[in-house]
Amino acid sequence: MSYPDAVSQGTALEEVPVSSLRNEIASRRYQPAALKLTPHPLWMETMLSSLKPAWDAACMPALFRETAEGRHPPLRAWQRFLVRCFPIVENFPKYMGLSLAKTTYGVRAGDASIRRWLLQNLGVEARHAEWWIDWMQAVGVDAPGAFKAPWAPEVQALHQHLLATCLAGSLAEGVAASNWAIEGVTGVWTRAVLEPFTAYARDGVRMDATALRWLKAHARYDDAHPDEALEIIKLSTDVTTGAPARVESAARRSLMLLARVFESCHEA
Ligand SMILES: [Fe+2]
Repeated sequence: MSYPDAVSQGTALEEVPVSSLRNEIASRRYQPAALKLTPHPLWMETMLSSLKPAWDAACMPALFRETAEGRHPPLRAWQRFLVRCFPIVENFPKYMGLSLAKTTYGVRAGDASIRRWLLQNLGVEARHAEWWIDWMQAVGVDAPGAFKAPWAPEVQALHQHLLATCLAGSLAEGVAASNWAIEGVTGVWTRAVLEPFTAYARDGVRMDATALRWLKAHARYDDAHPDEALEIIKLSTDVTTGAPARVESAARRSLMLLARVFESCHEA
């Protein structure tokens, strides 16, 4: 018996199972549909194959490739990587906040679901900057010094692109540049280096759960993130205009600039 029936028929509340009360209340709550994965239309298949070389180059630059292959690059390369990439990690929720600001509620199809997805992912992101700092400190980086370190030109270029695209580009362009390109690539390299990275325990790195939290979280949850980002792009791209080409160009630029950031950490 449902809660309202129970009340109208004078049934004592304690006789109604708590689970059925919860289900009844939940069924009456308004909520936008969750994003569902759907088959890609032709324009997206074409875009993804055109972006594949840039995606592959960003996923496996020398630092990650050598670590994944057990070649153990000098720890200072990882330290440089952690310091250089901190501004991107720290700013990532801000890029997403700019995308969130573009969503409507029920005006454009899918926007309420996209809004909900962005809000949930902002919740997931909430502590990632601090987890990155834990990782930095475990490998011997002075965190307060890293906060004030001048940004490498490659990092500035990537940040400017993400900021400008998420601010002034379309919702699809911003999501393609940040949530698909950056988070998608992050999922690939974190899975590849998670285990081999533990070899750095030999260099005095404290390889405990705190040090590995950021890496583990991204190797795990980013599985779904880029695919869901593609659903947002499909929902919010008007294919009757030149929008798909602009989405592709925003994503390509992110991948290219991200690869430059990674390479600069290894070469410097
Ligand atoms: Fe993150």
